[in-house]
Amino acid sequence: MKDLVRVTTLISAAIEKLLNKQVKMEAYSSAVYLSMASWCNRNGYDYSSTYFFKQSGEERNHQLKIFKYILDMGGNAVSPDVTDIKKEYNGFREVFEEALDQEISVTQSIKGIYAACMKEQDFVTVEFLNWFLKEQREEEYKARRALELFEVIGEEGTGRWQIDRHVGDIKYDGEA
Ligand SMILES: [Fe+2]
Ligand SMILES: [Fe+2]
Repeated sequence: MKDLVRVTTLISAAIEKLLNKQVKMEAYSSAVYLSMASWCNRNGYDYSSTYFFKQSGEERNHQLKIFKYILDMGGNAVSPDVTDIKKEYNGFREVFEEALDQEISVTQSIKGIYAACMKEQDFVTVEFLNWFLKEQREEEYKARRALELFEVIGEEGTGRWQIDRHVGDIKYDGEA
């Protein structure tokens, strides 16, 4: 009987599980970015706070995009528990280091799902994931650029104040 149920879904149980894991990861990213927005605001880095607010919204959209895809494919999308969100950071730079780490692990995770889809010839999900790979190119670029500002400008004197202002201008023109 279980196989009959599966006939109504266009993704395998294994891919469904991986996609639900990704839903959770995007939800977690969204919550972490919100926490970063709070920390930056409380510590006087208003441009960075706005930047992380925006990032948080983007991650929420990624979460919903995958959530909806699972449902569209006839699967069971699971609303995730998101817990253990870090609330305090040791410094301005640490926030951006962790943001980059987070983006790198998201890219790795999506590559993992992509590889699993290729293995079972789930080209429909591969096509769906292409958007996310492109998105990660932008996300990693922005996170790296933010960290570069710490090197280029330096944190001494009014450095952190200037870095914060420049974070507000970070853009990715990869499509140009
Ligand atoms: Fe994301
Ligand atoms: Fe992201």
